[in-house]
Amino acid sequence: MIKAAVIGHPVKHSKSPMIHTHWMRGHKIKGQYQAIDIAPNDLAHAVRDLVRDGYAGFNVTVPHKIAMMDLCDDIDETARAIGAVNTVVVRDGLLYGRNTDAFGFIANIKAALPDYSFNAPAMVLGAGGAARAVAYGLLKEGVPHIAVCNRSQVKAEALCAMDPQRMIPVEWGERDLLSDYPLLVNTTSLGMDGQPPLDIELGRLPPQSVVCDIVYAPLMTGLLDTAQAQGHHIVTGIGMLLHQARPAFEAWTGVMPDVDAALMQKVLA
Ligand code: ATR
Repeated sequence: MIKAAVIGHPVKHSKSPMIHTHWMRGHKIKGQYQAIDIAPNDLAHAVRDLVRDGYAGFNVTVPHKIAMMDLCDDIDETARAIGAVNTVVVRDGLLYGRNTDAFGFIANIKAALPDYSFNAPAMVLGAGGAARAVAYGLLKEGVPHIAVCNRSQVKAEALCAMDPQRMIPVEWGERDLLSDYPLLVNTTSLGMDGQPPLDIELGRLPPQSVVCDIVYAPLMTGLLDTAQAQGHHIVTGIGMLLHQARPAFEAWTGVMPDVDAALMQKVLA
C-alpha cells in the first residue's frame, strides 16, 4: 500500500489527489493520495510525522515550496536552480527534494506541439516561482535567449542571474515589444479567474509564434484567445499541472503515467 500526499496551506482545492488517484486506479496500484493541510509553523513536525507514518513521498505546494528546501536531506540540481521543492521522495527515512515544474512545462509544450524545437528566443512574463521553473526548463532545452519582463524589475534581474549570458530583464512597460520573441509565456497570475486581465498587445509578435499561458482557470485566457485569433500556436496551462505530476507518481510507484483525455476532462470539470 503506497501512501503519498500533497501538503499545502490551504490545500483543499488541490487537483493532485484527483490526478494521482486516477493513475493509481488506472495502473491497479494499491495506494492512497491525500491532501494534507499544514500551517507554516507546523511544517517540520508534520513532515517528520509523514516519514514516521511510512509515506513514500509527497508533493509540496504554496506556501511550503521554499521552506521545504531546508528540511530535505538532499536536493537535486533542478530544485536547487529553481530555488523550490515541489516533490519529496522518502527513502530509508531520508527526504529527497525535487522540482518537477520545469519538466511539466516543457512536457506540456512537447505534447501540444510535437515538432517544436526550442531554438527561438523567448519572452517570459513574470518572475515568481513559476517563472523560475519555466526559465530553467527553457534553458535546459537550449532556448538561445530569454527576456524576463516583470512588474517588479528587481525580481526580473534576480531571475536573470540564473544564466546572465542568455537572459536579460525587460521593463514591464515594454512587454508589447515582441518582434524578437516568437515564444511568449505568461507566468503571472494576470488573466486568472478573479484577477485582472493581462494587458498586452500582440501586434508585434512574429507570425506563427507560440504563446503559452500557465494559468488554467479559465483554460482559454484572454491572452490565448487573442493569440489564437491572430493565427499563433497556443499552449494552455492545464497540461503543465498534469505533466508535473508524472515524475512524482513515477518516483513513488515506479510507473511513469500518461496524461490521457479522461484525466484532462476530470481535472477541467
Ligand atoms: P508564482 O509562484 O505562481 O510564480 P508569485 O511568486 O506570487 O507566484 O508570482 C506572481 C507573478 O505575477 C509575479 O511575477 C508578479 O509580479 P511582481 O513580481 O511584480 O509582484 C506577477 N503579478 C501579479 N499581479 C500582477 C499585476 N497586477 N501586474 C503585473 N504583474 C503581476
